[in-house]
Amino acid sequence: MTSSPSPHHFTALENETWSRLFERQHHSRLHQIHPMFNQGLKALQISEHCVPDLDTVNARLMNLTGYKGVWVKGHEEPKSFFVMLKNGEFPIGNFIRDPANLAYTPEPDVFHDLYGHLPFLANTDYANFMRAFGEVASPFIHQPEICRQFERLFWFALEFSLIKTPEGIRVLGAGLASSTAETRFALSNEPKVHTFNLEKIRTLEFRIDEFQKQIFLIEQLSDLYQCLDAFKKGIQ
Ligand SMILES: [Fe+2]
Repeated sequence: MTSSPSPHHFTALENETWSRLFERQHHSRLHQIHPMFNQGLKALQISEHCVPDLDTVNARLMNLTGYKGVWVKGHEEPKSFFVMLKNGEFPIGNFIRDPANLAYTPEPDVFHDLYGHLPFLANTDYANFMRAFGEVASPFIHQPEICRQFERLFWFALEFSLIKTPEGIRVLGAGLASSTAETRFALSNEPKVHTFNLEKIRTLEFRIDEFQKQIFLIEQLSDLYQCLDAFKKGIQ
C-alpha cells in the first residue's frame, strides 16, 4: 500500500463542488441506482452539505461492516488495491475534481470513492464480497496477466454493472452511481448489454477515458456474490 497522505483540508470552493455534484445525482440516486446505495448513504449520513469527515463516516461504516475508507493520492495500483480490500480498507482519493468540468475526473476523486463506493460497503453482504474479492485476488498480484483478469472483473462487475430488480433495471456499479451522465448512457439503448458472463469479462479489455460501450447485466445479487470460486477456477 502506498503511504496514506494526510487528510486534505477541503476549501469552501471544494466543498461547493461536492454539493453541486451531490445535487446533480438527485434523480439517479432516487430512481436509477440499486436501493442499497441510498440505504448506505443514509446509514453513513453522507449528505450534500460538504465533503464528509472521513473519520466520522468510518466510525459508522466500521460499526456496520468493519470496512473503512483510507485517504490515498489518486489511482491505487491493483497490487495494493486488492490487498487493501482484503484488509477491509477502501482507497479514497484526497482531492476533488475541477469545478469547471464536473462530469470528469482524471483519477478517482473523493466524490467517486466516498460517494460512489462507501454506501455500497455499508451493506454486510456486499462488504463481505468485497473482502473476499481481495482475498481471492491478492495471491495473484505479482502475476500481471492474472491480476489483469481480476481488474476486469472489478471493472465490469463493481464499477459499471447493471442489475435486475423488481422495479426494473438499476445501476449497481459505483462508477455509474457517481456519474449521472454515465448512468443515463448506461441505461440508454447505446451500450451493448451482456448477460453476466465471467469468461467474457475475463478477456474483455476496457477503456477508462470514455463511457463504457459494453456493460454486464447481473440477474441477482447472489450471482455476483457467488462468482469468485468460478472465476478463480477459470484463471488462464
Ligand atoms: Fe471506483
